[in-house]
Amino acid sequence: MIDYAQRHVRFGWWSLLVFATAGLVLETLHGFKVRAYLDVSNETRRLMWTLAHAHGTLLAVVHVIFGLTVRGARDLSGRDLRPISSALMGASVLLPGGFFLGGIAFYSGDPGFGILLVPFGAVLLLAAVFLIARATGETVVRR
Ligand code: HEM
Repeated sequence: MIDYAQRHVRFGWWSLLVFATAGLVLETLHGFKVRAYLDVSNETRRLMWTLAHAHGTLLAVVHVIFGLTVRGARDLSGRDLRPISSALMGASVLLPGGFFLGGIAFYSGDPGFGILLVPFGAVLLLAAVFLIARATGETVVRR
């Protein structure tokens, strides 16, 4: 049987490492005043990559919280968590991934085609959050 609690706590911390490191990369682009990132004509790229970093880091924290919720709530750990787990994993790939790809090649004010992944990631995230909220409705928390 899959240990969803461990899977998400682990995935969350590793992806936090990845996306916080991406923040360090953005910081470095600022430090070296890289024009491909900072020029006004490239502000779409800056916005997209900042959004990729922000969504990646915050989603990583959501994974850790979900893992701890599964571990701490007896009723939740007995449920079929596969759809929630898959949706959350998918959101973590499609949301920041779409923003990142949208900033690689862009068309003046419009992001690149990678941005088309973002709405799918958003729907997966909202579905996961809904399923989690519903599943915790009658949860008994362990002491
Ligand atoms: C839990 C960890 C983190 C979270 C939740 C987080 C979240 C965010 C958010 C929400 C923004 C957008 C702010 C805005 O545009 O108003 C942002 C921007 C930024 N973050 Fe992070 N961050 C994290 C870690 C880091 C780390 C470790 C670094 C680098 C050492 C970093 C560097 C940056 C930079 C440079 C920007 C601005 C990018 C730009 O506007 O060009 N972040 N972060």
